[in-house]
Amino acid sequence: MSTRLPILEDLGELRGKRVLVRLDLNVPLATDAEGRRTVSDDFRIRAALPTLTFLLNRGARVTACTHLGRPAGEPDPRYDVAPVRELLTEMIPGVVLMENLRFSPGEKANDPAFVASLVEGQDCFVNDAFGVCHRSDASVVGPPRLLPSAAGRLVQREVEQLGSLLNSPARPFVVVVGGAKVADKLGLLESLARRADRLLIGGAMAFTFTHALGKSSGASIVDETKLEACKELILHSDNILLPVDFVAAGPGVAIQPDNWGPAGAGETAEVGMAVADPREVQIFGQSIPEGWRGYDIGPASAELFREAIADAATVLWNGPMGVFEDRRFAQGTRTVAAAVAASAGRTFIGGGDSVAAINHYGLADKISHISTGGGASLALLEHGDLPGLKALRESPLATQLDSGS
Ligand code: 3PG
Ligand code: MG
Repeated sequence: MSTRLPILEDLGELRGKRVLVRLDLNVPLATDAEGRRTVSDDFRIRAALPTLTFLLNRGARVTACTHLGRPAGEPDPRYDVAPVRELLTEMIPGVVLMENLRFSPGEKANDPAFVASLVEGQDCFVNDAFGVCHRSDASVVGPPRLLPSAAGRLVQREVEQLGSLLNSPARPFVVVVGGAKVADKLGLLESLARRADRLLIGGAMAFTFTHALGKSSGASIVDETKLEACKELILHSDNILLPVDFVAAGPGVAIQPDNWGPAGAGETAEVGMAVADPREVQIFGQSIPEGWRGYDIGPASAELFREAIADAATVLWNGPMGVFEDRRFAQGTRTVAAAVAASAGRTFIGGGDSVAAINHYGLADKISHISTGGGASLALLEHGDLPGLKALRESPLATQLDSGS
Protein backbone atom coordinates (compact mmCIF):
# COMPACT_ATOMS: atom_id res chain seq x y z
CA MET A 1 0.00 0.00 0.00
CA SER A 2 1.18 3.48 -0.80
CA THR A 3 1.99 5.96 1.95
CA ARG A 4 2.47 9.02 -0.19
CA LEU A 5 -0.38 11.37 -1.00
CA PRO A 6 -0.40 11.99 -4.77
CA ILE A 7 -0.47 15.72 -5.63
CA LEU A 8 -1.43 17.75 -8.70
CA GLU A 9 2.03 17.46 -10.33
CA ASP A 10 1.69 13.67 -10.25
CA LEU A 11 -1.20 13.84 -12.72
CA GLY A 12 1.28 14.68 -15.50
CA GLU A 13 0.19 16.32 -18.75
CA LEU A 14 -3.22 17.94 -18.34
CA ARG A 15 -3.74 19.76 -21.64
CA GLY A 16 -7.16 18.84 -23.00
CA LYS A 17 -7.81 16.42 -20.15
CA ARG A 18 -11.19 16.35 -18.42
CA VAL A 19 -10.69 16.70 -14.69
CA LEU A 20 -13.36 16.13 -12.05
CA VAL A 21 -12.64 18.19 -8.92
CA ARG A 22 -14.39 17.47 -5.61
CA LEU A 23 -14.56 20.72 -3.61
CA ASP A 24 -16.13 21.58 -0.28
CA LEU A 25 -18.12 24.66 -1.21
CA ASN A 26 -20.52 24.05 1.67
CA VAL A 27 -20.65 27.76 2.52
CA PRO A 28 -23.10 29.68 4.70
CA LEU A 29 -25.93 31.33 2.75
CA ALA A 30 -28.09 34.30 3.65
CA THR A 31 -31.36 35.48 2.15
CA ASP A 32 -31.36 39.15 1.13
CA ALA A 33 -34.25 41.64 1.22
CA GLU A 34 -35.56 40.46 -2.18
CA GLY A 35 -35.52 36.85 -0.99
CA ARG A 36 -32.44 35.98 -3.04
CA ARG A 37 -30.01 33.43 -1.56
CA THR A 38 -26.44 34.72 -1.47
CA VAL A 39 -23.12 33.43 -0.13
CA SER A 40 -22.42 35.11 3.21
CA ASP A 41 -18.86 33.83 3.69
CA ASP A 42 -16.65 32.97 0.72
CA PHE A 43 -13.73 31.47 2.73
CA ARG A 44 -14.13 28.00 1.23
CA ILE A 45 -14.56 29.33 -2.31
CA ARG A 46 -11.36 31.37 -2.06
CA ALA A 47 -9.59 28.35 -0.63
CA ALA A 48 -10.48 26.34 -3.76
CA LEU A 49 -8.99 28.84 -6.23
CA PRO A 50 -5.30 27.73 -6.23
CA THR A 51 -6.23 24.24 -7.45
CA LEU A 52 -8.72 25.47 -10.05
CA THR A 53 -6.18 28.03 -11.34
CA PHE A 54 -3.49 25.35 -11.56
CA LEU A 55 -5.74 23.07 -13.61
CA LEU A 56 -7.08 25.79 -15.93
CA ASN A 57 -3.60 27.22 -16.55
CA ARG A 58 -2.46 23.80 -17.72
CA GLY A 59 -5.31 23.54 -20.20
CA ALA A 60 -7.51 21.08 -18.32
CA ARG A 61 -11.31 21.05 -18.76
CA VAL A 62 -12.59 21.34 -15.24
CA THR A 63 -15.85 20.05 -13.80
CA ALA A 64 -16.27 20.80 -10.09
CA CYS A 65 -18.70 19.23 -7.66
CA THR A 66 -19.67 19.89 -4.04
CA HIS A 67 -22.28 19.19 -1.41
CA LEU A 68 -24.22 22.07 0.14
CA GLY A 69 -25.96 21.58 3.47
CA ARG A 70 -27.66 18.33 4.30
CA PRO A 71 -30.55 17.73 1.90
CA ALA A 72 -32.20 14.32 2.22
CA GLY A 73 -30.88 12.65 -0.94
CA GLU A 74 -33.33 14.42 -3.26
CA PRO A 75 -33.55 17.81 -4.98
CA ASP A 76 -34.43 20.57 -2.53
CA PRO A 77 -34.54 24.23 -3.67
CA ARG A 78 -33.14 25.41 -0.32
CA TYR A 79 -29.87 23.69 -1.14
CA ASP A 80 -29.38 24.11 -4.88
CA VAL A 81 -25.88 25.39 -5.68
CA ALA A 82 -26.98 28.36 -7.86
CA PRO A 83 -25.71 31.10 -5.48
CA VAL A 84 -22.39 29.28 -5.07
CA ARG A 85 -22.06 28.77 -8.83
CA GLU A 86 -22.73 32.46 -9.45
CA LEU A 87 -19.96 33.61 -7.09
CA LEU A 88 -17.53 30.92 -8.24
CA THR A 89 -17.99 31.95 -11.87
CA GLU A 90 -17.37 35.56 -10.90
CA MET A 91 -14.17 34.62 -9.09
CA ILE A 92 -12.89 32.13 -11.67
CA PRO A 93 -14.62 31.74 -15.05
CA GLY A 94 -14.31 28.51 -16.99
CA VAL A 95 -15.27 25.99 -14.33
CA VAL A 96 -18.48 23.97 -14.65
CA LEU A 97 -20.12 23.35 -11.25
CA MET A 98 -22.46 20.37 -11.01
CA GLU A 99 -25.65 20.42 -8.91
CA ASN A 100 -25.47 19.52 -5.20
CA LEU A 101 -24.09 15.98 -4.87
CA ARG A 102 -26.42 15.27 -1.94
CA PHE A 103 -29.48 15.64 -4.18
CA SER A 104 -28.71 12.03 -5.09
CA PRO A 105 -29.13 9.29 -2.46
CA GLY A 106 -26.04 7.61 -3.92
CA GLU A 107 -23.71 10.25 -2.51
CA LYS A 108 -24.15 9.52 1.21
CA ALA A 109 -24.69 5.81 0.50
CA ASN A 110 -21.40 5.59 -1.40
CA ASP A 111 -23.27 3.81 -4.19
CA PRO A 112 -20.95 2.42 -6.91
CA ALA A 113 -23.48 3.30 -9.63
CA PHE A 114 -23.40 6.93 -8.49
CA VAL A 115 -19.60 6.92 -8.49
CA ALA A 116 -19.68 5.52 -12.03
CA SER A 117 -21.99 8.33 -13.15
CA LEU A 118 -19.66 10.92 -11.62
CA VAL A 119 -16.50 9.72 -13.33
CA GLU A 120 -18.12 9.05 -16.70
CA GLY A 121 -16.23 10.90 -19.42
CA GLN A 122 -13.57 12.18 -16.98
CA ASP A 123 -9.83 11.51 -17.33
CA CYS A 124 -8.60 12.44 -13.84
CA PHE A 125 -9.90 13.19 -10.35
CA VAL A 126 -8.75 15.79 -7.84
CA ASN A 127 -9.94 15.85 -4.25
CA ASP A 128 -9.62 19.35 -2.82
CA ALA A 129 -12.56 19.01 -0.42
CA PHE A 130 -10.67 18.87 2.86
CA GLY A 131 -13.79 19.69 4.93
CA VAL A 132 -15.48 16.47 3.85
CA CYS A 133 -12.46 14.09 3.79
CA HIS A 134 -13.69 12.50 7.03
CA ARG A 135 -16.84 11.27 5.23
CA SER A 136 -16.84 8.05 3.20
CA ASP A 137 -19.21 9.64 0.69
CA ALA A 138 -19.29 8.47 -2.94
CA SER A 139 -17.59 11.54 -4.40
CA VAL A 140 -14.84 11.44 -1.76
CA VAL A 141 -13.74 7.80 -1.71
CA GLY A 142 -15.15 6.47 -5.03
CA PRO A 143 -13.38 8.20 -7.92
CA PRO A 144 -9.79 7.41 -6.78
CA ARG A 145 -10.51 3.74 -7.42
CA LEU A 146 -11.39 4.43 -11.03
CA LEU A 147 -9.32 7.42 -12.20
CA PRO A 148 -5.77 8.72 -11.80
CA SER A 149 -6.30 10.90 -8.73
CA ALA A 150 -4.53 13.51 -6.66
CA ALA A 151 -4.97 15.80 -3.71
CA GLY A 152 -5.52 19.46 -4.59
CA ARG A 153 -3.51 22.32 -3.10
CA LEU A 154 -5.89 22.92 -0.19
CA VAL A 155 -5.95 19.27 0.90
CA GLN A 156 -2.18 19.15 0.52
CA ARG A 157 -1.72 22.25 2.68
CA GLU A 158 -4.17 21.16 5.38
CA VAL A 159 -2.45 17.78 5.65
CA GLU A 160 0.99 19.39 5.91
CA GLN A 161 -0.16 21.89 8.53
CA LEU A 162 -2.25 19.57 10.67
CA GLY A 163 0.32 16.80 10.19
CA SER A 164 2.92 18.99 11.92
CA LEU A 165 0.57 19.11 14.93
CA LEU A 166 0.31 15.33 14.93
CA ASN A 167 3.97 14.55 14.59
CA SER A 168 6.18 17.05 16.31
CA PRO A 169 4.45 20.10 17.78
CA ALA A 170 6.83 22.61 19.40
CA ARG A 171 6.27 22.49 23.16
CA PRO A 172 4.54 23.54 25.27
CA PHE A 173 1.63 22.39 23.08
CA VAL A 174 -1.60 23.86 24.42
CA VAL A 175 -5.03 22.80 23.13
CA VAL A 176 -8.23 24.75 23.78
CA VAL A 177 -11.47 22.91 23.08
CA GLY A 178 -14.97 24.29 23.46
CA GLY A 179 -18.41 23.88 21.96
CA ALA A 180 -21.59 22.35 23.24
CA LYS A 181 -21.50 18.63 22.52
CA VAL A 182 -19.04 16.64 24.60
CA ALA A 183 -20.13 13.40 22.90
CA ASP A 184 -18.79 14.63 19.54
CA LYS A 185 -15.37 15.45 20.92
CA LEU A 186 -14.69 12.93 23.68
CA GLY A 187 -12.48 10.71 21.51
CA LEU A 188 -10.53 13.75 20.43
CA LEU A 189 -10.16 14.98 24.01
CA GLU A 190 -8.85 11.58 25.10
CA SER A 191 -6.36 11.53 22.27
CA LEU A 192 -5.25 15.15 22.81
CA ALA A 193 -4.94 14.74 26.57
CA ARG A 194 -2.16 12.24 25.84
CA ARG A 195 -0.34 14.44 23.35
CA ALA A 196 -0.76 18.02 24.54
CA ASP A 197 1.03 19.59 27.48
CA ARG A 198 -2.16 21.34 28.55
CA LEU A 199 -5.75 20.76 27.52
CA LEU A 200 -8.15 23.61 28.33
CA ILE A 201 -11.84 22.73 28.19
CA GLY A 202 -14.47 25.46 27.88
CA GLY A 203 -17.87 25.86 26.25
CA ALA A 204 -21.00 24.05 27.36
CA MET A 205 -19.13 20.72 27.30
CA ALA A 206 -17.30 21.84 30.44
CA PHE A 207 -20.49 21.33 32.50
CA THR A 208 -20.46 17.58 31.91
CA PHE A 209 -16.96 17.57 33.43
CA THR A 210 -17.72 19.79 36.43
CA HIS A 211 -20.96 17.86 37.03
CA ALA A 212 -19.02 14.57 36.91
CA LEU A 213 -16.72 15.98 39.59
CA GLY A 214 -19.69 16.60 41.85
CA LYS A 215 -20.34 20.30 41.23
CA SER A 216 -23.89 21.49 40.74
CA SER A 217 -24.52 22.63 37.20
CA GLY A 218 -27.92 24.26 37.66
CA ALA A 219 -29.88 24.24 34.40
CA SER A 220 -26.71 24.04 32.27
CA ILE A 221 -26.35 21.49 29.48
CA VAL A 222 -25.02 18.20 30.87
CA ASP A 223 -24.66 14.98 28.86
CA GLU A 224 -25.71 12.36 31.42
CA THR A 225 -24.45 9.54 29.20
CA LYS A 226 -20.88 10.85 29.28
CA LEU A 227 -20.41 11.58 32.97
CA GLU A 228 -18.40 8.41 33.65
CA ALA A 229 -16.14 8.91 30.63
CA CYS A 230 -15.50 12.55 31.52
CA LYS A 231 -14.67 11.61 35.11
CA GLU A 232 -12.26 8.91 33.93
CA LEU A 233 -10.54 11.33 31.59
CA ILE A 234 -10.05 13.91 34.32
CA LEU A 235 -8.82 11.36 36.85
CA HIS A 236 -6.29 9.89 34.43
CA SER A 237 -4.90 13.18 33.16
CA ASP A 238 -2.95 15.76 35.08
CA ASN A 239 -2.85 18.32 32.28
CA ILE A 240 -6.55 19.22 31.92
CA LEU A 241 -7.65 22.67 32.96
CA LEU A 242 -11.39 23.20 33.53
CA PRO A 243 -13.04 26.58 34.02
CA VAL A 244 -13.05 27.79 37.63
CA ASP A 245 -15.98 30.15 37.09
CA PHE A 246 -18.88 30.68 34.71
CA VAL A 247 -21.21 33.39 33.45
CA ALA A 248 -24.79 32.16 33.83
CA ALA A 249 -28.28 33.40 33.00
CA GLY A 250 -31.14 33.25 35.46
CA PRO A 251 -34.45 31.39 35.07
CA GLY A 252 -36.38 32.44 31.98
CA VAL A 253 -33.61 34.61 30.54
CA ALA A 254 -33.39 33.94 26.80
CA ILE A 255 -30.35 33.95 24.53
CA GLN A 256 -30.24 36.88 22.10
CA PRO A 257 -28.81 35.36 18.92
CA ASP A 258 -27.12 37.59 16.35
CA ASN A 259 -26.25 40.09 19.05
CA TRP A 260 -22.52 39.64 18.56
CA GLY A 261 -21.41 43.07 19.57
CA PRO A 262 -18.93 45.22 17.69
CA ALA A 263 -16.63 43.62 15.14
CA GLY A 264 -12.88 44.00 15.44
CA ALA A 265 -10.55 43.66 18.39
CA GLY A 266 -10.25 45.81 21.47
CA GLU A 267 -13.94 46.37 22.25
CA THR A 268 -13.77 44.42 25.49
CA ALA A 269 -15.93 46.85 27.41
CA GLU A 270 -18.77 46.18 24.98
CA VAL A 271 -19.22 42.51 25.84
CA GLY A 272 -19.74 40.24 28.80
CA MET A 273 -20.86 41.61 32.14
CA ALA A 274 -20.46 45.18 30.90
CA VAL A 275 -23.63 44.86 28.80
CA ALA A 276 -25.59 42.45 31.02
CA ASP A 277 -28.41 43.22 33.45
CA PRO A 278 -27.07 41.97 36.83
CA ARG A 279 -30.51 40.59 37.73
CA GLU A 280 -30.39 38.36 34.67
CA VAL A 281 -26.72 37.44 34.28
CA GLN A 282 -24.24 36.61 37.04
CA ILE A 283 -20.81 35.11 37.61
CA PHE A 284 -20.55 31.96 39.72
CA GLY A 285 -17.69 29.65 40.69
CA GLN A 286 -17.64 26.02 39.49
CA SER A 287 -21.05 25.40 41.08
CA ILE A 288 -24.09 26.96 39.46
CA PRO A 289 -27.30 27.42 41.46
CA GLU A 290 -30.61 25.76 40.68
CA GLY A 291 -32.39 27.31 37.72
CA TRP A 292 -29.34 29.17 36.40
CA ARG A 293 -27.75 28.12 33.13
CA GLY A 294 -24.09 28.64 32.30
CA TYR A 295 -23.39 30.25 28.92
CA ASP A 296 -19.74 31.34 29.09
CA ILE A 297 -16.56 30.75 31.07
CA GLY A 298 -16.06 33.40 33.73
CA PRO A 299 -13.39 36.10 33.93
CA ALA A 300 -11.03 34.16 36.23
CA SER A 301 -11.15 31.19 33.84
CA ALA A 302 -10.60 33.44 30.83
CA GLU A 303 -7.51 34.84 32.55
CA LEU A 304 -6.18 31.34 33.37
CA PHE A 305 -6.75 30.26 29.77
CA ARG A 306 -5.07 33.43 28.48
CA GLU A 307 -1.98 32.76 30.60
CA ALA A 308 -1.75 29.11 29.50
CA ILE A 309 -2.03 30.17 25.85
CA ALA A 310 0.61 32.89 26.31
CA ASP A 311 3.10 30.25 27.52
CA ALA A 312 2.57 27.96 24.52
CA ALA A 313 4.86 27.34 21.56
CA THR A 314 1.99 25.63 19.69
CA VAL A 315 -1.72 26.37 20.15
CA LEU A 316 -4.69 24.51 18.71
CA TRP A 317 -8.12 26.03 19.27
CA ASN A 318 -11.43 24.38 18.36
CA GLY A 319 -14.84 25.48 19.59
CA PRO A 320 -16.13 28.61 21.33
CA MET A 321 -15.98 29.14 25.10
CA GLY A 322 -19.58 30.28 25.30
CA VAL A 323 -22.60 31.46 23.36
CA PHE A 324 -20.57 34.28 21.83
CA GLU A 325 -23.28 35.25 19.35
CA ASP A 326 -24.97 36.84 22.39
CA ARG A 327 -22.40 39.41 23.49
CA ARG A 328 -23.28 39.00 27.16
CA PHE A 329 -21.64 35.58 26.84
CA ALA A 330 -18.82 36.49 24.46
CA GLN A 331 -16.05 37.49 26.81
CA GLY A 332 -14.51 34.02 27.17
CA THR A 333 -14.39 33.40 23.42
CA ARG A 334 -13.09 36.90 22.76
CA THR A 335 -10.33 36.51 25.36
CA VAL A 336 -9.24 33.16 23.92
CA ALA A 337 -9.36 34.55 20.36
CA ALA A 338 -7.19 37.51 21.38
CA ALA A 339 -4.77 35.27 23.29
CA VAL A 340 -4.36 32.89 20.35
CA ALA A 341 -3.82 35.86 18.01
CA ALA A 342 -1.23 37.37 20.38
CA SER A 343 0.72 34.11 20.70
CA ALA A 344 4.29 34.14 19.46
CA GLY A 345 4.01 30.39 18.78
CA ARG A 346 2.40 28.54 15.87
CA THR A 347 -1.37 28.76 16.05
CA PHE A 348 -4.10 26.60 14.52
CA ILE A 349 -7.84 27.13 14.47
CA GLY A 350 -10.45 24.69 13.17
CA GLY A 351 -14.21 24.51 13.39
CA GLY A 352 -16.81 26.82 11.89
CA ASP A 353 -17.69 28.66 15.12
CA SER A 354 -14.11 29.43 16.18
CA VAL A 355 -13.31 30.54 12.65
CA ALA A 356 -16.40 32.79 12.60
CA ALA A 357 -15.31 34.29 15.94
CA ILE A 358 -11.74 34.97 14.87
CA ASN A 359 -13.04 36.62 11.70
CA HIS A 360 -15.57 38.72 13.61
CA TYR A 361 -12.85 39.98 15.93
CA GLY A 362 -10.65 40.84 12.93
CA LEU A 363 -7.80 38.59 14.06
CA ALA A 364 -7.68 35.99 11.26
CA ASP A 365 -4.43 37.33 9.78
CA LYS A 366 -2.68 36.75 13.10
CA ILE A 367 -3.27 32.98 12.99
CA SER A 368 -0.71 30.59 11.43
CA HIS A 369 -3.29 28.18 9.98
CA ILE A 370 -7.07 28.39 9.83
CA SER A 371 -8.51 25.06 8.73
CA THR A 372 -11.39 24.90 6.22
CA GLY A 373 -12.56 21.72 7.93
CA GLY A 374 -14.01 21.59 11.43
CA GLY A 375 -15.00 17.93 11.77
CA ALA A 376 -12.32 16.88 9.28
CA SER A 377 -9.47 18.60 11.13
CA LEU A 378 -10.56 17.05 14.43
CA ALA A 379 -10.94 13.59 12.87
CA LEU A 380 -7.47 13.87 11.36
CA LEU A 381 -5.99 14.85 14.73
CA GLU A 382 -7.85 12.06 16.49
CA HIS A 383 -7.21 9.23 14.04
CA GLY A 384 -4.12 10.39 12.14
CA ASP A 385 -5.84 9.72 8.80
CA LEU A 386 -9.09 10.32 6.91
CA PRO A 387 -11.08 8.14 4.47
CA GLY A 388 -10.66 10.70 1.67
CA LEU A 389 -6.86 10.78 2.09
CA LYS A 390 -6.61 7.02 2.35
CA ALA A 391 -8.57 6.65 -0.90
CA LEU A 392 -6.08 8.92 -2.67
CA ARG A 393 -3.06 7.08 -1.28
CA GLU A 394 -4.54 3.74 -2.34
CA SER A 395 -5.58 4.85 -5.81
CA PRO A 396 -3.93 3.10 -8.76
CA LEU A 397 -1.95 6.26 -9.61
CA ALA A 398 -0.41 6.45 -6.14
CA THR A 399 0.45 2.77 -6.25
CA GLN A 400 2.25 3.31 -9.58
CA LEU A 401 4.17 6.27 -8.15
CA ASP A 402 5.23 4.22 -5.17
CA SER A 403 6.57 1.38 -7.25
CA GLY A 404 8.59 3.99 -9.16
CA SER A 405 6.98 3.65 -12.60
C1 3PG B 1 -18.74 20.95 7.01
O1 3PG B 1 -19.22 22.04 6.75
O2 3PG B 1 -18.50 20.56 8.17
C2 3PG B 1 -18.33 20.07 5.85
O3 3PG B 1 -18.70 20.65 4.64
C3 3PG B 1 -18.93 18.69 6.01
O4 3PG B 1 -20.31 18.75 6.01
P1 3PG B 1 -21.16 17.59 6.71
O5 3PG B 1 -20.83 17.70 8.19
O6 3PG B 1 -22.59 17.86 6.39
O7 3PG B 1 -20.66 16.28 6.15
MG1 MG C 1 -19.53 20.13 10.19
